[in-house]
Amino acid sequence: MESVDLTVAALHRSVDDPALNSMNFLNEVAQHYPDAVSLAAGRPYEEFFDSAELHRHLDTFRRHLADDLGLSPAQVDRTLLQYGRTKGIVHHLIARNLAVDEQITVDPEAIVVTVGCQEAMFLVLRALRAGPEDVLLAVAPTYVGLTGAARLVDLPVRPVADGPDGIDLADLRAQLRRARAEGLCPRACYVMPDFANPSGVSMDPAQRRRLLDLAATEDLLLIEDNPYGLFPAGGADRTPTLKALDTRRRVVYLGSFAKTVLPGARVGYVVADQRVAGSDGTVGPLADQLAKIKSMITVNTSPIAQAVIGGALLAHDCSLVAANVRERAAYARNLRHMVDGLARRFPAGGPVRWNVPAGGFFVVVTVPFAVDDALLHRSAREYGVLWTPMAHFYDDGAPVNALRLSVSAVTPEQIDQGLDRLAALVTDELAVPTAPARRPAPA
Ligand SMILES: Cc1ncc(COP(=O)(O)O)c(C=O)c1O
Repeated sequence: MESVDLTVAALHRSVDDPALNSMNFLNEVAQHYPDAVSLAAGRPYEEFFDSAELHRHLDTFRRHLADDLGLSPAQVDRTLLQYGRTKGIVHHLIARNLAVDEQITVDPEAIVVTVGCQEAMFLVLRALRAGPEDVLLAVAPTYVGLTGAARLVDLPVRPVADGPDGIDLADLRAQLRRARAEGLCPRACYVMPDFANPSGVSMDPAQRRRLLDLAATEDLLLIEDNPYGLFPAGGADRTPTLKALDTRRRVVYLGSFAKTVLPGARVGYVVADQRVAGSDGTVGPLADQLAKIKSMITVNTSPIAQAVIGGALLAHDCSLVAANVRERAAYARNLRHMVDGLARRFPAGGPVRWNVPAGGFFVVVTVPFAVDDALLHRSAREYGVLWTPMAHFYDDGAPVNALRLSVSAVTPEQIDQGLDRLAALVTDELAVPTAPARRPAPA
């Protein structure tokens, strides 16, 4: 055996956890089969990228610092090029964006600008995990980045059923009771009320209000993650976010600019306006405590990257709805194309079923056979189409008879090609006798 210096067993147990291997696995499969049509990646459509815009956005933000905030040329340079404020330099623009697009009123001081939404998740979970009795509840299926971040801070994740309304409130109540009866402390419940990844399911306004009421009566924090809310498929109307409805500071809100501006900037944020009493008797927003953690991980989010995002916001009066007219139309068109394409290829009432999300990037297809990583490899190799096994979004390792299709990084023609190939795979699999479905179909 090759000589080694360390074993994985001697490292933090998260590094050998399936949740942390999941993203790498999915990226590697895609790299292995570059010619396959990818209905796997939840990435923005690359034809929308324009590197010339970076310079325009930087200039816009520089002008904003000088003209609107009155900074001298030296101060402008320092703001962009020097180490900077831990909580960020575009917090005021994010607050404006939340007011304009989401009707969320928030003190900019309650915002921490982060290295992607992923860092925001980590900061919140790190802060909430105070002791070994703490657990996190999360609607299952759950974004694997959330599960992975929880692993890094040794915070167990307990699933809550989703259902057609986005969260099964009776199950949430039952999970809370069960955890507390076991002497555990549920610190928060992670939810994605708008076009969830991976399920595509949304919560209607009444369900959101019921969830907020339950959070208040059960003294529970909600972590609302909203990277896809800007992309409804059926018209411009959007449902208010939990944070917009939150009058009791129950909601920690996570935002990402990856889908609405560009993922390469790696800028996201957290709104954490919960009042925290310090050991010195002072009271301030939870954001201040998160900033302390951030100062020991990334020090501050790249001001250059923040300036690009800030310039993009300023270019559209801080409205991402206005900035994404083309993107919103394209993703909505693709989602409809995907759902119509599924209906054309798989007969109604047959063994293949799928949900019809009201927006976002994802559709879940349920089939009467196990969908695992081996099948994904075979799909890519023999049929030339990539998708994501839903098992990656459950935390129990059980087989799942469903796959996630993404509409964001492809053209309608590629959707057709991918679906033709998927249909060929499914036809061949249906000819092989297999075990019955393990999980119910998504709503
Ligand atoms: C639900 C969800 N949350 C967070 C993120 C991560 O966002 P960011 O790229 O800003 O870290 C993603 C990315 O796909 C996501 O799907």
